[in-house]
Amino acid sequence: MSGLWASVDGRVTPAEQAVVPALDRGFLFGDAVYEVFSTRRGRPLFWAEHLDRLRASGARTGLAPQAIDGAVLRAEVAALCAAVGADEAYVRLMVSRGVNPDLALDPREGLTPTRVLFARPLTPVDPALKAHGCVLSTTVVPRRDDGQPVAKKSSRQGAIAERLAAHAAGAWEALRVDTLGRVLEGATSTFFAVRAGVLLTPPLGLGILDGITRRHVLAVARAASVPVAEAAIPAEALDELDEAFICSSTRGVVPVRAIDAHGFAAPGPLTAAMSAAYEAVVEAHLG
Ligand SMILES: Cc1ncc(COP(=O)(O)O)c(C=O)c1O
Repeated sequence: MSGLWASVDGRVTPAEQAVVPALDRGFLFGDAVYEVFSTRRGRPLFWAEHLDRLRASGARTGLAPQAIDGAVLRAEVAALCAAVGADEAYVRLMVSRGVNPDLALDPREGLTPTRVLFARPLTPVDPALKAHGCVLSTTVVPRRDDGQPVAKKSSRQGAIAERLAAHAAGAWEALRVDTLGRVLEGATSTFFAVRAGVLLTPPLGLGILDGITRRHVLAVARAASVPVAEAAIPAEALDELDEAFICSSTRGVVPVRAIDAHGFAAPGPLTAAMSAAYEAVVEAHLG
């Protein structure tokens, strides 16, 4: 058994036994929205924010608002995590538009959404990466600044290709740069950098995910009076950066020691401070 458990419309099983119909639109078309978060001491971290973002993704995808029932999903997370039996778990929660009667791309009215949750004990980020930093490799993606907030959709083919290219280049994570040469985000993470004492991160308007860890890192930086700029970072300025880190809900802050050929001392002092401050927010949130 892999330690990975699943819940399909509330039915909890070991993940290998979980099934959805092949006509589910999540499988047919990637027509589903999702969230990934962790639990600490058995409780989902920043649950309200993840639920809000899931609702926003659903609204942008045209999912009926009743497809995302917070009380039902919260109870399913609790039941699934009880089966996993770990204080700290990795949880992936998806809601698809439901099962199609046929192969039609156009969604029929009145489909019943499918809820699929996975959870397993949280694997901590390799301590060597936290201590010495990870390597990023840049990858060019189409510009996304169409003014629409980004929905977290299940179809991940772009991210898969980006990660394969990054791993082939010996990197841990892909760093997206748009066709106008502006740094966006990691394939699965938010990007932060430090230049001349200023904490920089690309603005949401460039078409990046409104990362929940991003929000908390920005808040702790502002609370500590660290100068912050949500501003475009040109790819050609990457080698002028003093520090960099990426962050996400299940990994927290991970320092960056190189982007392509440019190396950094990792973790830099502001990265270390932001990492500690973020962990303090997590602790405070857990009460
Ligand atoms: C593209 C992208 N950006 C940023 C993030 C980080 O978001 P969060 O901090 O909400 O986990 C993720 C996480 O999955 C992501 O896939």
